[in-house]
Amino acid sequence: MPPNQWDSSLYDDKHNFVTRHGEDLLQLLAPQPGERILDAGCGTGHLTAAIAASGAVAVGMDNSPEMLAKARECYPQIEFVPGDVTDFSFPQPFDAIFSNAALHWVRAAEDAARCMARALRPGGRLAVEFGGAGNILHIAEAVRAAILHVTGRDQPHQWYFPSIGEYAAVLERSGFQVEAAWLFPRWTPLEGDTGIRDWIRMFRGGMIGPLTSTEFEEVLRLAEDSLRGVLYRDGRWHAGYKRLRVCARKVLH
Ligand code: BEZ
Repeated sequence: MPPNQWDSSLYDDKHNFVTRHGEDLLQLLAPQPGERILDAGCGTGHLTAAIAASGAVAVGMDNSPEMLAKARECYPQIEFVPGDVTDFSFPQPFDAIFSNAALHWVRAAEDAARCMARALRPGGRLAVEFGGAGNILHIAEAVRAAILHVTGRDQPHQWYFPSIGEYAAVLERSGFQVEAAWLFPRWTPLEGDTGIRDWIRMFRGGMIGPLTSTEFEEVLRLAEDSLRGVLYRDGRWHAGYKRLRVCARKVLH
């Protein structure tokens, strides 16, 4: 499944922790009434709606038609537009850009940073959170080993999980000043006995290329077996997330 094709219902039903955790980032954004704020990679739009509830003029942007359809259905009063964070522009500048759990899908981080800087007014702020260095390390390694075993192909994952230093340098090269950055673990419980399989199925676009359905089922089985000792604790599956959270400001000149 290519990364921009999503099952938006599965995303909301079984992975709603993505939205719940984004609420901390909202506090750092501190949206003000009347501000124009872009939610880049808005998914199903719940956080865009939370930004709008503060009185800001929120615009949600995503490159997935399925996510946008769901966002528009849930929040018809909010503007949601199709767009790629590495190649977008708007006629009017934004006061702030927010992005939760989206930028690890964007390997062209320099392009995204340049576009975000261009879309902000001078002094405008950026509040982003996504997977950082070491994110979901065990899952990625288990799936990679399983694919190698089943197909003989070595297939590293395709996500972008930078360190604080790497990402700060990307932002600075694009005209941002980084004001604060954190890299921290988030041990995240998954739902149900099939939690780890559901997670891999949902996000397979970033780590699994073309496989027959038999191969895929075998990859799931092997990965689940090897992860049980690490990620199954107290009767529940978990994902070992590492979040990179950054607040930055577009320099004034
Ligand atoms: C994350 O939120 O860190 C993430 C989600 C899906 C795939 C990879 C990373």
